[in-house]
Parts: sequence; structure tokens; C-alpha cells
Amino acid sequence: MGVSALSPPIAAPLGDVNTERLSLRRFERDDLDEPAAVFEHREVWQFPYGRGMTGEETEAFLDAQIAHWDQHGFGCWTAKEIASGRLIGYVGLSVPTFLPDILPAVEVGWRFAPAAWGNGYATEGATAALHEAFTTMGLDWVCSLPQADNPRSGRVAERLGMKLIRDVNVPANARRGEVVAQHYQIARDDRLAAHSSPPRRE
Ligand SMILES: CC(C)(COP(=O)(O)OP(=O)(O)OC[C@H]1O[C@@H](n2cnc3c(N)ncnc32)[C@H](O)[C@@H]1OP(=O)(O)O)[C@@H](O)C(=O)NCCC(=O)NCCS
Repeated sequence: MGVSALSPPIAAPLGDVNTERLSLRRFERDDLDEPAAVFEHREVWQFPYGRGMTGEETEAFLDAQIAHWDQHGFGCWTAKEIASGRLIGYVGLSVPTFLPDILPAVEVGWRFAPAAWGNGYATEGATAALHEAFTTMGLDWVCSLPQADNPRSGRVAERLGMKLIRDVNVPANARRGEVVAQHYQIARDDRLAAHSSPPRRE
């Protein structure tokens, strides 16, 4: 794990956790089939790509996730529903390199299969991510950057108690045009004062 100018220093690496309904685990290379079945749905990648991912794109995404964990000591977890054992999406912490102006920073983010929406899973997983960010990792701030035209995602940030700072233009890259994101943030003291019950660490 290297020290990076892209994100603030962390006190300790992020581990796996269980919440009441979710098993949250670091991405592994052998995870390909289940995430590919989730990522092929257009709704999952509507923002920002307007279409689902191919198998090759899912593979490249997994490689990038694994490299992120190796570089920073944290990343996004795969989210499995404990009751069914099914992989239903991902949630966790990442460096928002797509928005260089706000670095160093850590973002909490979420992406779930449409069949899993409307159950509170994104909020449950992101609550665990924030708890770990502010305790294990010792961060002072976490941001979130939902696309402005994705109100479902913005509502997750609001449920987490995050504060909207401003709208920001996210520069275009090779795969999409410029998009507008809502820059949300939450401070450790605000989060820990509001929510005290920890997830179970594995
Ligand atoms: C963004 C996204 C994760 C939001 O999913 P979600 O299921 O709406 O979000 P939450 O986990 O916070 O669930 C809240 C909903 O579950 C309902 N709910 C049901 N049971 C619940 C429970 N036990 N606890 C909490 N909420 C519950 C809430 O009432 C709410 O429903 P509503 O939106 O109809 O009011 C989802 O739309 C998604 O994966 N989209 C595609 C990926 C994406 O766009 N990611 C963000 C990129 S910017």
C-alpha cells in the first residue's frame, strides 16, 4: 500500500464488514461472473454511460478496483445479500480521480442491480463505509458526487446526512462527455455524533 497525493493519509486499511443484511467484501479477481450479470443492465450504468457494461468492460473495472485497493488500502466492496448469498452490487470508498480539482479526497459511492433498489441496501452499505472511513481509516471528511440528473443517487447522499456544497462540472473523458455532479460532503464529527452503532467487523 503506497502513500498517495490523491487521497488523505489513512490510519489503517479498510477491512471487510457485515451489516444487518449485507456481506461487504473487497473485490477479488475471481468475482467476474456475478458482477458482469449486474453490470450488463443499462440502469446500472445509465449514469454516466447510458448503457450496460460488456464482459470486457466489467473485467477492466474489476482490475481497476483491485489496483485501487492495492494502491490506497481501501476501495469499493462487493455487496452480497446475506439472506440469498447473491451479489447485488457494490458500495464503498474511492478516490474521485475524475475530478482533479477536489483532490486529495475520498468519495463514498454505490451501484446496485435494479431488482435490489428500494430496499435501503445502498444506504445500509454506505453507512458502513462512512463508519469505517471515520473510525478505522481516521478520515476527517468524505465526499459524494452523484450526477445531478440522478436524483435517486442524490437521495442516498441526503439520507446519509451529507451536505450539498455545490454543483461541479466533471470533465469529459474517453468514454463519456462532460457531466454535472452534485458535490456532497460530511465531516467525521457530524456523522459520528448522529450515528453511533458500528457494523460488525470480520
Ligand atoms: C442510486 C441507487 C443505489 C439508489 O438505490 P435505492 O435502493 O433507491 O437507495 P437506498 O438503498 O437508499 O434505498 C432507499 C429506498 O428503499 C426504501 N426502503 C425499503 N426498505 C428499506 C429499509 N429497510 N431501510 C431503508 N430504506 C428502505 C426507501 O423507502 C427508499 O425508497 P424510495 O426511493 O422509493 O423512497 C440505485 O438507484 C442504483 O444503483 N442506481 C444505478 C447506479 C447509480 O446510478 N449509482 C450512482 C452513480 S452517481
